Amino acid sequence: LATIVVAVDGPSGSGKSSVSRAVAQRLGLRYLDTGAMYRAVTWWMLHNQVDVHDAAAVAAAADKPELVSGTDPAGPTITVDGIDVAGPIRGAEVTGAVSAVSAVPEIRTRLVALQRAAIGAGGIVVEGRDIGTVVAPDAALKVYLTASEAARAARRNAESDDPAASVTATQADLARRDALDSGRATAPLSMPADGVLVDTTEMDRDQVVEHLLALVGTRA
Ligand code: C5P
Repeated sequence: LATIVVAVDGPSGSGKSSVSRAVAQRLGLRYLDTGAMYRAVTWWMLHNQVDVHDAAAVAAAADKPELVSGTDPAGPTITVDGIDVAGPIRGAEVTGAVSAVSAVPEIRTRLVALQRAAIGAGGIVVEGRDIGTVVAPDAALKVYLTASEAARAARRNAESDDPAASVTATQADLARRDALDSGRATAPLSMPADGVLVDTTEMDRDQVVEHLLALVGTRA
């Protein structure tokens, strides 16, 4: 297991983060949340008044944010230019802008390089949209985690600190991001040819974790 790479891809709200963290913890592996990296770069663009819908402006600034991702699954961290952005990257402003920023090829080139450096010799669970297809195509196990849109929206709402958030609005936002993430030209969200599809619509979190641990057992 010391050098295994487990890739976990899938749409928004499929439970990738909590499941990937739990699997990493159970196996003593590191954990990398690549969505947090796209979110942190998006936060930086907003914070520095870069128009996130101006792809050329975003591309020109792609190398500027200094990102550091901590890979301890018990407490993953993310800083940009030394600022802890773990809180603000989950806010509505970043969530609304991240798909536009992550569609810019220069941003992806930069973050994929950082992600490969973080993966290093392996021993890590990596979650995102293009891990099995682009970032780590040689990963020993590639999981594609999904669930019905309604189930994903309900889970997102249950996790949210905003008690007034409506499931309908959450579902609309998920559908919007899925369409952007699946439809973009560079590294769109898609199931890797050799990926294992796991539909979690009818599963609870612990069942998904146990299922993934069993899959790792078949590959390690
Ligand atoms: O996983 P999370 O919802 O935090 O990801 C936020 C956004 O980052 C996604 O909607 C997608 O636009 C982008 N992303 C990506 N490639 C990844 C991970 C995330 O484009 N590997």
